[in-house]
Amino acid sequence: MNTEIITAINNQIQAEIYSSNLYLSMSSWANARGYKGMSHWLKQQALEEHTHAMKFIAFLEDRNSQPEILQIDKPDAEWSGIKEVFEKVLAHEQKVTKLINNIYDLALEHKDHASTSFLQWFIDEQVEEEATASEILDEISLAGEKGAGIYMIDKELGQRIQASTTTGNEA
Ligand code: FEO
Repeated sequence: MNTEIITAINNQIQAEIYSSNLYLSMSSWANARGYKGMSHWLKQQALEEHTHAMKFIAFLEDRNSQPEILQIDKPDAEWSGIKEVFEKVLAHEQKVTKLINNIYDLALEHKDHASTSFLQWFIDEQVEEEATASEILDEISLAGEKGAGIYMIDKELGQRIQASTTTGNEA
């Protein structure tokens, strides 16, 4: 594999683990403030991000490259309110989309067809992740951060089913 692509994927593994930690931190923040449903949703999202990291790890291993696990920065732990939490989720997902697109461009440039094919799943996933974050943010904006509306949103997000935790090696 091209070393530039390997480096970009190692950086992406780091970014996915950071995402997982960020959402865990948000989950703990939400739980401490009584938003049990949102806390659950964010915890499931953290698990999903971990799965994303595992998929990248499995991909490098399948192609006989040893993944490098890089240092993970400490995520923020304080937000002004639940609206800001989901604003930050959306902004973070938009950032991740750019990172994935950059790796895809690199794979195209190097005519690495296995990588472009693999990355297609992530491109589709990012469309879904941005749409979901944006939808939740719209609901919070409409409901406001206090009262029955936010209580209902919290209940709804509490229904999110358990994230799949497959490692990617078996996919
Ligand atoms: Fe793994 Fe939410 O991007």
